Amino acid sequence: MVADTGHGMPQMVLDHIFEPFITTKEATGIGLGLWVSDEIVRKHGGWIGVRSLSEGRVSGTAFEIFLPANGEVGATDVAGLG
Ligand SMILES: Nc1ncnc2c1ncn2[C@@H]1O[C@H](COP(=O)(O)OP(=O)(O)O)[C@@H](O)[C@H]1O
Ligand SMILES: [Mg+2]
Repeated sequence: MVADTGHGMPQMVLDHIFEPFITTKEATGIGLGLWVSDEIVRKHGGWIGVRSLSEGRVSGTAFEIFLPANGEVGATDVAGLG
């Protein structure tokens, strides 16, 4: 897991972060980082999970990457979350 105590993301942003060219960093963002990461992990049969809090006293984001030991069993099945 990789987590931060940044400003987090509202649901509207969260719903699109894995799409190409989606960025909220107007001057510096390209919007390819998470899209490429998700594509790579998916090609290995895994998936990326994300949780984020953007309102209230605490905020932050946590990413988790699940990868299967081999390509035959999906990481979602192993985690029991598929
Ligand atoms: N740790 C994070 N905290 C808050 N927002 C994030 C975080 N990681 C990603 N995001 C959001 O997801 C968007 C897409 O991220 P990414 O694909 O890496 O592209 P970029 O970094 O070029 O904007 C960011 O613009 C931002 O809105
Ligand atoms: Mg990025």
